[in-house]
Amino acid sequence: MTPVPFQKSSEHIAHFFGNVTHDVAVVLGSGLGGFTRHIGDKEILRTSDIPDYPRSTVAGHSGELVSAAVGKKRILVFSGRSHYYETASTLNASVTAIVSHALGIPRIVLTNAAGILNESFYPGDLMVIKDQINLTFRNVLSEIGSPVQSLHPVYSPELAKLAFAAAEDCSVNLKSGVYVGLTGPSYETPAEVRAFQKLGGDAVGMSTVHEALYARASGLEVLGISCLTNYSTGITSQPLSHEEVTEIGNRVDERFTRLITRFVDLL
Ligand code: HPA
Repeated sequence: MTPVPFQKSSEHIAHFFGNVTHDVAVVLGSGLGGFTRHIGDKEILRTSDIPDYPRSTVAGHSGELVSAAVGKKRILVFSGRSHYYETASTLNASVTAIVSHALGIPRIVLTNAAGILNESFYPGDLMVIKDQINLTFRNVLSEIGSPVQSLHPVYSPELAKLAFAAAEDCSVNLKSGVYVGLTGPSYETPAEVRAFQKLGGDAVGMSTVHEALYARASGLEVLGISCLTNYSTGITSQPLSHEEVTEIGNRVDERFTRLITRFVDLL
């Protein structure tokens, strides 16, 4: 039997929050951490206080778990995540999904910052992930002895529909597209960006794909939302920086919060 990953972490988290039931987990990508400022009735657990929990060292990721009430629902927010490029572990990169499953949370919203591949999109746009291309050439499910299986559709069409209904209710413009997941940590070259456009990608980033696979394989419903922070390398002549990515994330904060809050209401 493969041991359950992060069992000690999950037990600590469940106990800290009084074994309360959460309706949905929300993972906040780079620059989107401001969401937790806008929610009330919250309890905060620092990831550094959780046994065996992987740390995120990335700017824009605060490293907290927040249990909060949103309307009549209770949500568990992961403010920050561990990326594959930090520890070269797909399990660490999937800890949010692994813990959510262990806590019995039935659905997960995976958000991220991503570069634009689809040139009809703009920096600051929000995009529902309709599908993914896993270009990390790794799969977290091989770490837990998973059988060969179809996970199509990885992202729940029902949750995507709810996200569009929420967007309409709160007048947020929401795009839909395919997310290309890479290991990073270097940004793409212009030649790679042209290749990913030809493959059918609309946005590119360094997270999410393993969390989505693990969550879906464990029976959670998955919603993915990318905050498009920049044109990918070569689409414009501007050089790309992590500061620019978190800056745009901070600017969409208010719109993002309205969208997620309404989405949770509609669940
Ligand atoms: N490429 C990869 N990851 C990203 C980007 C990008 O352009 N922007 C934000 N995350």
